[in-house]
Amino acid sequence: MARYAHITGWGMSLPARVLTNQELARTVDTSDEWIVERTGIRERRVASSSQTTASLATDAALKALAAAGLSPRQVQLVIVATSTPEHIFPATACLVQDRIGAVSAGAFDLSAACTGFVYALSVASQLIQTGAYQNAVVIGAETLSRIINWKDRSTCVLFGDGAGALVLQASSRPGGVLAFSIHSDGSGGDALSLPAGGSRLPASHETVEQGLHYVSMNGREVYRFATRVMAAATREVLAKAGYVLSEVDLIIPHQANQRIIEAAAKQLRLSMDRFFVNVDRYGNTSTASIPIAICEAFAAGRLHVGDRVVLVGFGAGLTWGAALLQWVAHAPVPAARWRLSGLFIVRAIAWLRSMLRRLSRRVEAFFFGERGDTGHQ
Ligand code: COA
Repeated sequence: MARYAHITGWGMSLPARVLTNQELARTVDTSDEWIVERTGIRERRVASSSQTTASLATDAALKALAAAGLSPRQVQLVIVATSTPEHIFPATACLVQDRIGAVSAGAFDLSAACTGFVYALSVASQLIQTGAYQNAVVIGAETLSRIINWKDRSTCVLFGDGAGALVLQASSRPGGVLAFSIHSDGSGGDALSLPAGGSRLPASHETVEQGLHYVSMNGREVYRFATRVMAAATREVLAKAGYVLSEVDLIIPHQANQRIIEAAAKQLRLSMDRFFVNVDRYGNTSTASIPIAICEAFAAGRLHVGDRVVLVGFGAGLTWGAALLQWVAHAPVPAARWRLSGLFIVRAIAWLRSMLRRLSRRVEAFFFGERGDTGHQ
């Protein structure tokens, strides 16, 4: 019997702090007019010092699970697509898995820059459609404010922080993720990169002095690339699934720049009201931009049962890709048992469980010490 990967829950998390163009213009040589005219961005969100990629991701994931009525204990897979992981390792997904109390789940990060969410959705949907997994939580989460040079006007005006998550569940009813296409062209890797902090250029006084831990971008090159691939990826994913553009109800593009979205609309000969756009309020939140836009599109009444929706993204790598969905969810599940008990309690229980596990490791180390049984003779 055919299996489908349905989207049954969705959630987002945004820092409360709003940074407007006017505020930015007080610290770098830019203006509200320039930013709005070239990008469409008016404001973005910036994480507080206590917020991290994992904390935003945890928030979004718990909301998505509540909407789906799925208990964290039932979750089988957690994927975090991110360009700003908390560490090189452990994976941010493992931190999220622990904090939401997904005790039975496998967890990994996926790195495909701003296309990461489309990539992650493709992977999760295939693991569900093959029958390997019953469900997955797919998250896009970023704290890009931590890797931006706030003195570089050519990049600092573009990005923002946030997270969005979807719950995918197996179903025998047609719908959900119908098709995807993902691409890469590593020859363009230097157009958008974070040069230092990895194994090639480990952190040193020199790399920090030279500002190599900040986003480095050739804006014009990325712009040309983006306007080329958005329409092509949309057409490709539709052809794969056997649909034509007139059968698509909504396109949710990566929110990087209003002009890039308009150029894609022009190439596809579609009016802008077929696109969902919120780049004006959040800027480019990388992997989080598409799931945040899905949450807002649903809240705005722009997603209905049966709608065909194209998600299309591009980013560093260079990477690009698209996914075709058929929306199947009416509304968040109204009275899931654990939802009634509240997100706070779920989070508190997960925290307590995590603490107990840490404690048991300490106790084990105390009793067995360094001479414990390591299997070494
Ligand atoms: N405020 C004011 N002036 C700015 C500025 C800012 N924030 N940033 C750049 N400028 C200046 C440049 O210095 C340049 O000045 P010059 O002509 O005196 O040299 C001028 O504006 C034009 O710069 P340019 O880079 O040609 O502008 P642009 O029209 O290409 O717009 C971007 C710049 C970054 C908005 C645009 O190239 C873009 O959106 N690229 C894609 C970036 C992206 O999406 N990245 C993420 C991918 S996931």
